[in-house]
Amino acid sequence: MKISALLFFLVTLIATSHANPIRLVTDGAPIHLLRPKSGAAGAKVPQLNCLSWRLAVETYNMRNWNLVPESCEKYVGHYMEGKQYRDDCDAVADIAIKYAKNLTLAGDGKEIWVFDIDETSLSNAPYYARSDVQFGAVPYNDTKFNAWVAEGEAPAIPAVLRLYKTLLSLGIKPVFLSGTKAVYRQIRISNLKKVGYKNWEKLILKGESDHGSAVVYKSNKRTELVEAGYRIVGNIGDQWSDIIGSNVGDRTFKVPDPMYFIG
Ligand SMILES: *[C@@H]1O[C@H](CO)[C@@H](O)[C@H](O)[C@H]1NC(C)=O
Ligand SMILES: *[C@@H]1O[C@H](CO)[C@@H](O)[C@H](O)[C@H]1NC(C)=O
Repeated sequence: MKISALLFFLVTLIATSHANPIRLVTDGAPIHLLRPKSGAAGAKVPQLNCLSWRLAVETYNMRNWNLVPESCEKYVGHYMEGKQYRDDCDAVADIAIKYAKNLTLAGDGKEIWVFDIDETSLSNAPYYARSDVQFGAVPYNDTKFNAWVAEGEAPAIPAVLRLYKTLLSLGIKPVFLSGTKAVYRQIRISNLKKVGYKNWEKLILKGESDHGSAVVYKSNKRTELVEAGYRIVGNIGDQWSDIIGSNVGDRTFKVPDPMYFIG
């Protein structure tokens, strides 16, 4: 009798202690225990809560930031190199594909989808992982970054390549619109082709006469496309400057980028 009383006590204790933590509840079933102050990799983050920082960056609450906080360098590294980043990109692609498949298309060859290149179609994660770059915790160096671009070895972001292929099969034409300087045109073309982006309606890079912020530059280029008779049915980028401004398209999609901000 004593043992069963003890067991009853223990079972009650466990049941009660399980009821205490805050839970996200869907129809009464807990789906995820909240773990305050821990990053995606599960590690404690002192001082700055890096998950909150990343959320602020992705939602555009945080703007015009120059550097990844030093205390979040490892967190951002784990995120970018880990499963969560891929899963987050896949989630965006899934929604975009669902949207695209549901469109009533005219099929007149004028329906386009705007793709940004860096951290959207191609990944610079191998560059950002370098010890002299530290996932954006070290100040941006144009010379070094351009040397990496000139290698033409950036891998595709698999989720976005999947979206790209689906759009092609639906008859929606891709247009690449990037802030990359036009002098890198040939290397960018070979890089895109090498990793699976083989066809596009236009590849627009930043020429000598293109001035202004990324928002202004991209708005101007999209306006030119619309004036040429194209209809932008979708637009995807990693920066908010890809998806705000004029003629952003019927729907915009943002893939994550906690490594840098372009305004
Ligand atoms: C599919 O298209 C219809 C008609 O435009 C729209 O009402 C509906 O919300 C769309 N569904 C999705 C998942 O986009
Ligand atoms: C940027 O990188 C280049 C090439 O490694 C180097 O020579 C230069 O000093 C760096 N600039 C700054 C400001 O660190």
